[in-house]
Amino acid sequence: MKIILGPASAQLGKHIAQTLETETVPVAFKTFPDGENYVRLEGQVQNEEVAIVQTTSPPQDTRLMQLALIADSAKRNGAKKITAVVPYLAYARQDRVFLQGEAMSAETIARMLKAAGVERLITVNVHQEKVLSHFPFPAKSVSAIPLLAEYFVKKGQAKAFALSPDEGAVHIAEEARKVLGGECGYLEKSRDRYTGQVNMEKKTLAIEGKTVIIFDDIISSGGTIVAAAKILKELNPQEIYVACVHPLLIGEAEKLIRHAGVEEIVGTDSVPSSVSRVSLAPVISKELAH
Ligand code: R5P
Repeated sequence: MKIILGPASAQLGKHIAQTLETETVPVAFKTFPDGENYVRLEGQVQNEEVAIVQTTSPPQDTRLMQLALIADSAKRNGAKKITAVVPYLAYARQDRVFLQGEAMSAETIARMLKAAGVERLITVNVHQEKVLSHFPFPAKSVSAIPLLAEYFVKKGQAKAFALSPDEGAVHIAEEARKVLGGECGYLEKSRDRYTGQVNMEKKTLAIEGKTVIIFDDIISSGGTIVAAAKILKELNPQEIYVACVHPLLIGEAEKLIRHAGVEEIVGTDSVPSSVSRVSLAPVISKELAH
């Protein structure tokens, strides 16, 4: 297998190739003055199984287009099988029609990738796993939560309370608890579908004097974590940390979260950022080696 280094995830791609002890294929890319994308493979893929590593965090439309163009190029140049490794899968939160008249964006993206030549997809902590069952090729989501929890164990935070900001993500807190060895729980969150405003209910949780780590798949505007930290503060924990798989950290998110009293935000290199301290390479390499 060869690893094609998508422009959005070249570092992660190199890390995966090192772990698998396999060759990389660099990609030359540019944007034309009118905004169109250009890519060119700088290596041979003839008769090779290839994995294109390309996250699709913002600017997601550009990165999706680059991914589709790379897949097309790999196919034209004789690649035997094309796997797309897309740690952050753009549009995955629109995994169903919430309001009449909406598109089912996640499926639209999948069909676009299939048309470009993608035959298999690996992503990480996709927002709702069930969306992958509608994809027109095998698609799997692997979890980075144990890697994030291990980061905190190494930091001396074993037994910390693992918390998810809403009930739908309680499986994430449970996964973290298995590594941390403490307790876990969840908050009650709702979001206005029209305004995007997050509402978090007050809740009784036995966290007084304890270290709490909020685990979430995505931090975008930071609204969810800020609201969660506000509720938690009233329950007098010792410290609050945040772990997330996809640190999009749009706008002032990082600052707002720190101001809400969070000691540290830890993310993965799914989205390269100032908080990306945990690499996805081990979990993705393992899946590719299957
Ligand atoms: C939503 O259910 C997700 O799990 C995240 O909690 C959400 O996407 C975070 O978005 P934001 O940071 O804008 O609140």
